[in-house]
Amino acid sequence: MSDALIRVEGLYKVFGKDPASVMPLVHEGRSKDDILAETGHTLGLKSIDLEIAKGEIYVIMGLSGSGKSTLIRHFNRLIDPTEGRILVEGTDVMQLSPRQLIDFRRHKMSMVFQRFGLLPHRSVLDNVAYGLAIQGVDRSSRAQQAQQWLEAVGLSGYGEQYPAQLSGGQQQRVGLARALCTNAEILLMDEAFSALDPLIRSEMQDQLLALQQKLHKTIIFITHDLDEALRLGDRIAILKDGALVQEGTPVDILLHPADDYVAAFVKDVNRARALTVETVMTPAQCCIEGDSVQAALKALEQAGREYGFQVAGRQYRGTLSRRSLEQAPGDHIDASLLETVATVAPNALIESVIPDTLETPGPLPVVSEDGNLCGELSRASLVEVLGDGSRRSAA
Ligand SMILES: Nc1ncnc2c1ncn2[C@@H]1O[C@H](COP(=O)(O)OP(=O)(O)O)[C@@H](O)[C@H]1O
Ligand SMILES: [Mg+2]
Repeated sequence: MSDALIRVEGLYKVFGKDPASVMPLVHEGRSKDDILAETGHTLGLKSIDLEIAKGEIYVIMGLSGSGKSTLIRHFNRLIDPTEGRILVEGTDVMQLSPRQLIDFRRHKMSMVFQRFGLLPHRSVLDNVAYGLAIQGVDRSSRAQQAQQWLEAVGLSGYGEQYPAQLSGGQQQRVGLARALCTNAEILLMDEAFSALDPLIRSEMQDQLLALQQKLHKTIIFITHDLDEALRLGDRIAILKDGALVQEGTPVDILLHPADDYVAAFVKDVNRARALTVETVMTPAQCCIEGDSVQAALKALEQAGREYGFQVAGRQYRGTLSRRSLEQAPGDHIDASLLETVATVAPNALIESVIPDTLETPGPLPVVSEDGNLCGELSRASLVEVLGDGSRRSAA
């Protein structure tokens, strides 16, 4: 059993008067255009199978009309499938009673829309608290929680204002705060940033990533923009004419586009600006615990490496080289033996770490904000992603 939070099995959606009557044509593999011309029915989704894991940002990407909104509206059963199943935490959403469905929509998932969807005659604070009001949370408690989420999105002073007094970016922050305020575990974001100016949009992406680091929600994010998909997605699903044409990590999508449609999307992407260190790094090959020079040399020997990382638990302490270790006067590793090597952050863009990578003979340690060693970035893996990708090995 996998740890999928949402699982979609054999999902088909046909819009029109008598969807079931059209299914034989769909199963024959007739095209969306054909089916429309012949029957007046629109093929919204066909044969979708996917799994979304708890805690990931799962991006659904595709051109307008490819079925993105239709797909996520199945998750909270705003749309019923023509065929197939949608399981959320193992529960088939079609089996929910009306009562359970209401509860499920209030507590499990919340949605952030492209056009913000704020209530114009309610204050910003009331808008944020709206979901809690529906849940029946008392006034003072919801005001307090709403205030906290307004702060989290950087709008603490704006609670008494009305939506129209805010800029587009601020309104979308309110939309985000409102979704977060319900404490729902799953956020559905349908083109949530698409209406924003590029600069504001990029700020919102940063903010979402920063929030996600703390909150670990499961976020399903729809976009038609590949750069946004690459930036935000742990995994990306690409839809075309209602079919899932590829699913993978940003690196997979960039380096191994499944067909011409995906290739056309990725063709002009500047990989150094699109990918973060995290997506390219590999597990650290040689971690050295303790302070013994001999033990460190042995560890390097065993790993077949010239460089290794000294760690204490998961904490990064420094980089060691075989050469300096061999010249050490005693058996104790002290600070003077550590190499001067830059560390890189997992969320740094590749572009920003190229100079350090080129200047360092060994791999660069990837170190998180809290000092943990997350992996290593080698020149070879950089060359692989920045080159044509054809030399990428399984390693
Ligand atoms: N309620 C509906 N009735 C008829 N056709 C629909 C309906 N909703 C969506 N569609 C059609 O289904 C396809 C997918 O639409 P949609 O999911 O909105 O795409 P996207 O969100 O990727 O832009 C489109 O061809 C659209 O016209
Ligand atoms: Mg849509």
